[in-house]
Amino acid sequence: MAGKEDKVLLRMKVNGEEAEVAVKPTWTLLRVLREELGFTGTKKGCEQGDCGACTVIMDGKAVNACLVLALQAESKEIETIEGLGTADALHPLQKSFIEHGAVQCGFCTPGMLMSAEALLRENRKPSLEEIKIGISGNLCRCTGYTKIIKAIESVSQKNREALTPFRGQ
Ligand code: FES
Ligand code: FES
Repeated sequence: MAGKEDKVLLRMKVNGEEAEVAVKPTWTLLRVLREELGFTGTKKGCEQGDCGACTVIMDGKAVNACLVLALQAESKEIETIEGLGTADALHPLQKSFIEHGAVQCGFCTPGMLMSAEALLRENRKPSLEEIKIGISGNLCRCTGYTKIIKAIESVSQKNREALTPFRGQ
């Protein structure tokens, strides 16, 4: 009989690519993304759902990967910061964060960008209040948030076509 810690095959899509990985039932999605699949752009902070550093998009919604058991991602579509843009082809939100000086140490940035992307997909032109709510689960120790909010607001006012996720095209 299968023991509690026996591995189970998990199938999901990560950044548009099929991923199959043997996972223990107790592993989180964060652990699998970082340690099994090498998506280390997703940051490990508090591991308690408080900081938002581990935010990824699961089936269109921003989630804390540290609070999602890996097996809950079965058959789901996961998007990480690696799927948003690359150094050669930055996503408009990434460009805007740079232009607005919204990145300092950068530890919160991947999670912040994924929350912002999920927000803008749902709400093309969020109010300042809606932007603040959209990133309310993401803590930043460095910027004081004002520049981050301005960076998101600036992109929200531009053409949404530019916001199509990168996904390796
Ligand atoms: S590491 Fe997941 S919320 Fe902090
Ligand atoms: S830029 Fe350092 S935590 Fe946000």
